[in-house]
Formats: sequence, C-alpha cells, structure tokens
Amino acid sequence: MAVREMKPDVYSVGAIDWDRRLFDELIPLPDGTSYNSYVIRGSEKIALIDTVDPTKEYELLSNLEKLDIKSIDYVISHHAEQDHSGTIPKILELFPDAKVLTNPKCKNMLIDLLLISEDKFITVNDTETVSLGNKTLEFIFAPWVHWPETMFTYLKEDKILFTCDFLGSHLATSNVFATDETKVYESAKRYYAEIMMPFRTSIKKHLERIKGLQIEMVAPSHGPVYLKPDFIINAYKEWVSDDVKNEVVIPFISMHGSTRKMVEHFMNALIERQIIVKPFNLSKTDIGELAMALVDAATIVIASPTVLVGPHPNVVYATFLANALRPKLKFASVIGSYGWGGKMIEDIKGVLTNLKVEVIEPVIVKGFPQEHDLKALERLADEILKKHKENKIF
Ligand code: FEO
Repeated sequence: MAVREMKPDVYSVGAIDWDRRLFDELIPLPDGTSYNSYVIRGSEKIALIDTVDPTKEYELLSNLEKLDIKSIDYVISHHAEQDHSGTIPKILELFPDAKVLTNPKCKNMLIDLLLISEDKFITVNDTETVSLGNKTLEFIFAPWVHWPETMFTYLKEDKILFTCDFLGSHLATSNVFATDETKVYESAKRYYAEIMMPFRTSIKKHLERIKGLQIEMVAPSHGPVYLKPDFIINAYKEWVSDDVKNEVVIPFISMHGSTRKMVEHFMNALIERQIIVKPFNLSKTDIGELAMALVDAATIVIASPTVLVGPHPNVVYATFLANALRPKLKFASVIGSYGWGGKMIEDIKGVLTNLKVEVIEPVIVKGFPQEHDLKALERLADEILKKHKENKIF
C-alpha cells in the first residue's frame, strides 16, 4: 500500500487487507478492512501512531522506508489489541531508540500480550500533552471502546483526532478519505453494531468528551479518514441514542416448514400494520447484518422449531449474540413450533439476560400452524403495534 499524505508531515502508512473475510474468527468482513497507522513528523521528533496486524508488517515497514524514516521517537499505542499493536515489537527491533508511549493500563496489556520489556515504555496521563516540536499531541483516555485501555490522540495544530477503533469501519478502500458516504456509513454502522454497541453508555461519554475539540479530521484505526467529522459523529449520536425505530427483527430457522409458515404469516401481519420487518434466516444470514438491524429496532421476535427439547442451536447462537451485543430493544417475543413438547421458550428467555425488554406473550404451535394459530400471530402483531404506539415508536 502506498504512503498517503493527509496534511503536511502527517501520513497514513498502514495496510489495507482486501481479502480478510473474518475478524476474531467471528465477525464477517464482507468489504475487507484496513489497519491504519500514521506518521507525524514534527520539527524535532517523529511519532508513529499504532501499527498494523502482524500479517501486514511488511507493508508498514515498506511505507516507513518510502518516507525515509530513519528514527522513531514515539510509538503511540492507543489499544493493545493485536491488529494495531502486533507490529510494535518489530518496530522496536528496527528502531531501538523508540519508546512506546501509552497509558498505564495499555502498557500492562502490551507487556502481557506482546512480551514487550518494561523499559521500552513511557506512560502518559489523561489530557497530558507531548511535543514533537512544531506539533503537539494531547492524549484522551477513552476506556471501553471496546477494551478497557483505549485512548485517543488529538494533534492540536492540525486538528486531527486519532480515534483508534472508535468511529472506524471495516472497509478496504484505496481512498484515504471517506468519499463514498453511503458505503462508509454502512460499513461504520456494521462496525458499531459488532464492536461498539455493547458499550453504548461509554460511547455516549466519549462523544461528550470530544465535543469541545475543534476537529477537522477524524482518523480511526480501521477504514477511511473522515474529512467531515460531523458525518460520523452524528451517525454515532443517532446509534447510541435511546431512540428506537418501528422495526421488528426476526431471526429464524425452519426445518420442515412449520416455523417458516408462521414467520411468513407474522411478517405479513406486521407489514399490514405498517411495521418494518427485518427477517434473518439463520441458516443463510451474515450475522453482521443481524447485528446492524439490532442497532435501531424496537422489537425482536425469535422464531424457532424445537430440536430435541429446545430451540434450534442456530437460534440459540443468534440469541446469545443479540444478548451479548446489548441492543436498545424494548420488546421481545418468541414464535415457533414443536412436535411433542419441549422447553423452547424457557431456554430462549434464559439466554436474554442482558436485555431490558418487556416480553410479549409468545406463540408456540404444535405441528403445522392452523387457522387459530395464524390468528394468534395476528394478535401478536396487534400487541406489538399497540406497544410501539404507546411508546411513541410509530
Ligand atoms: Fe481494531 Fe479492537 O482492534
């Protein structure tokens, strides 16, 4: 990847991972990702902000060579996760005078994860500044974005906020800046849903914290740099707000058609009541799409057949994920079918322990749904409509 100048003496030197399709062996990356690293060349000192995933080490090193970087004074580590910190040991090997500049918590994690020796660190406090000569760095602690040690760096003279994972997107693009806002919005929302959503309360605080800064550029650790900071900051404000939309997310599985018939009838009933439906067939769906739908929806209705005595394992997985992501859902219910019994509802409810939802009476059917079962689904749609209206979600 090429070196890209963002402002005089500020360069993007990271790597684009066009082919990566899975992160943490869990999160789908339909559009690849990037590991952003930045060089700031001050009149007296040079700083490198974060590094890259170790699989892309050669790209970072080649970019530093292209910039003719002969020495690095500070390697600023915002976050100990290896996609950003994994190449720090190599940088320290090649630039033995460089010091890792980070907060005490991140220092300890880097020692644990990468076995970097203690004498390589300089620790900073929240709001502390460090001068590179004609450029000044201010550090802003931002714990729980999504690890406890995260921090941002504000480059005062250039008004650039380096935000680590915060405000980022898993998007491989050769544009250093976010030019295709529709595409970037989708990728950033997916990223928020998969990584940030469980930390909504912390994210709100960080948004408040950066409110007073004059920001001309937001430079995250994944995806393109924002020249219009309001674009991404306003998107985040909407996602973290307590407002929900008139939408029902329906993760479902059907083995022999009974649950599918229920889902189809139920969806039609919701659509007739002008409620937006977002169904996800769990044997086919990308779980990132499901996570994105959970960012705004008011209600989740989980639909499953009975396998042995409980819900289908794919439904358990999706329910577990929805619970872990802590979306701002207000209502939940369950629909599904069984042949000879089981405890599907108890099992699903037992997984949803993190969600502060009101559970609406489930509809569980023995065998293939009959007329009275379909009526019960229409009553469930009526109840959801009523709840949405009562809560001004319509
Ligand atoms: Fe991109 Fe949390 O690492």
